[in-house]
Amino acid sequence: MRRSSHLLQVTFSLLISILCLIILFGRDEIPQIDPSNHVLTNIMGSTSQNRPQKPTTGSKEDFTWGRCGRNESVANVSGFSSLPGHIQDFLFYRHCRHFPMLLDVPDKCGGPDKSIDVFLLLVIKSSPLNYERREVLRKTWAKERLQNGLWIRRIFLSGTTGSGFEKRKLNKLLRVENREHNDILQWDFNDSFFNLTLKQILFLEWMDKNCRKARFLLNGDDDIFANTDNMVDYLQSLKDNSGDKHLFAGHLIRYVGPIREPRSKYYVPVQIQESDSYPPYCGGGGFLLSAYTAVVIYKMSQTIPILPIDDVYMGMCLEKAGLGPESHIGVRTAGLPIPSTKVDAFDPCYYREIILVHRFLPHQIYIMWHGIHEPDLKCGNLLS
Ligand SMILES: *[C@@H]1O[C@H](CO)[C@@H](O)[C@H](O)[C@H]1NC(C)=O
Ligand SMILES: *[C@@H]1O[C@H](CO)[C@@H](O)[C@H](O)[C@H]1NC(C)=O
Ligand SMILES: *[C@@H]1O[C@H](CO)[C@@H](O)[C@H](O)[C@H]1NC(C)=O
Ligand SMILES: *[C@@H]1O[C@H](CO)[C@@H](O)[C@H](O)[C@H]1NC(C)=O
Repeated sequence: MRRSSHLLQVTFSLLISILCLIILFGRDEIPQIDPSNHVLTNIMGSTSQNRPQKPTTGSKEDFTWGRCGRNESVANVSGFSSLPGHIQDFLFYRHCRHFPMLLDVPDKCGGPDKSIDVFLLLVIKSSPLNYERREVLRKTWAKERLQNGLWIRRIFLSGTTGSGFEKRKLNKLLRVENREHNDILQWDFNDSFFNLTLKQILFLEWMDKNCRKARFLLNGDDDIFANTDNMVDYLQSLKDNSGDKHLFAGHLIRYVGPIREPRSKYYVPVQIQESDSYPPYCGGGGFLLSAYTAVVIYKMSQTIPILPIDDVYMGMCLEKAGLGPESHIGVRTAGLPIPSTKVDAFDPCYYREIILVHRFLPHQIYIMWHGIHEPDLKCGNLLS
C-alpha cells in the first residue's frame, strides 16, 4: 500500500518534471517567434512602444521578454572610441526600456481594479546591496501605516548587482526580503548609476498599470531622512489637489547644464546630449509628486530618449508636458544650513520642521526618527 503510493508519487513527479521542461523550453522560444518582442524598441516612439506590456502572468521570474541587444551603430558616432567605458555602454543600450521583472508586488495598491486608498506611496530607489538601509527605513520613516487616517505605503525599486553566483545570491536576498515585507519591485538590469533613469521609467510604467489611484508619491533615494509625518500634513493641506492635479515639488535646480568634465560622475558628453542646458528640475534625492503628474511624466517619457541623469530626465518630461517643478522649502537635498559647528548638526530640532534631507547613514536615520518623536523634545525657533 505504502510502496505503491510511493511509486505513484514518483511517477507523478516525473510527469510534472517533464511537463515543466516542455513549458520551459516552449517559453524560451517565445522571444524568437514573438513579433511583439522589444529587442529593439524605437526610442522615438514607434507603435510597439505604445503597446501595453505583456501580462506577467503572476510568475516571479518572467523570462518571456527577449533580451534587448546592443545598438551597434552608436559606435559610428564621432568621438565614440574616446568616451569612457560606462558612457559607451550607456549609448549601446540607451534604447532598451523593457527588462524581465524578477519581483513584483501587484497588490500593493489593491491591484489594477480594486485600488486600495493609498494616500502617499513611498518609492525608494535601492540597489540590492543596501540591505541595512532598507531595514532601517522599514522601521522608521518608511513604515507602512495610517497617518492622520491616511495610508502610507512603501516600495523599493531595484535592479541586479554583479554577475554569476554573486548576482544570484543578492537576488535571493531580495526574494527573501520581499517574502517577508512585500515591498520590492525588481527588474533584471544592471543597477548602476547610469541606469537610474531606466529604473524610474520602469517604475512609472508599473505605477501606470498597478497603482494609478494612489494620491501622491515620494520619489527618492534610500539614504535620505524623510519626515513623512510632515509630508502627509503638507499634502493634506493642499487646496483642491487630492492627487488629481499637477504637483512636482522638491529642491528646485535651474539654469544648469550637462557637466562636460569626463572625470565627473555626472559627465554627459555631447554624444548623449548636445544642448548645453537642462530644463528646471528637482534634485533626485527626493521629491514629491501627484499621481496625476507621475502618469503624465510616464506618457512623456515614451517619446524622450533616455538621459542617464534621472532627476534631469524628470524635468525634461515635465517640460514636454508644459508643466514645471516647484520649490518646497522643506526639501533640503543639499543639506541643512546649520548655524555653527558648535551645535550638533543632528539635533532633532532641526529635523522636526523639514520634510526631507539627503545623506543619512542608517544609524543616523534610526536615531533621528526616534529623536523627532520624543514626546518631551524641547526646541526653540531654530530654523528661522
Ligand atoms: C556603422 O557601423 C556598422 C558596423 O559597425 C556598419 O555596418 C555601418 O555601415 C556603419 N554606418 C552606419 C551609418 O550605421
Ligand atoms: C542606434 O544608434 C543610432 C546612432 O546613434 C541612432 O541613429 C538610432 O536611432 C539608434 N537605434 C535605436 C533603435 O535606438
Ligand atoms: C554594471 O555597471 C557598472 C557601471 O557601469 C559596471 O562597472 C559593472 O561591471 C556592470 N556590471 C555588469 C554585471 O554588467
Ligand atoms: C543598464 O542595464 C543593462 C542591462 O543589465 C546593461 O546592459 C547596461 O550596460 C546598463 N547600462 C549602464 C550604463 O550601466
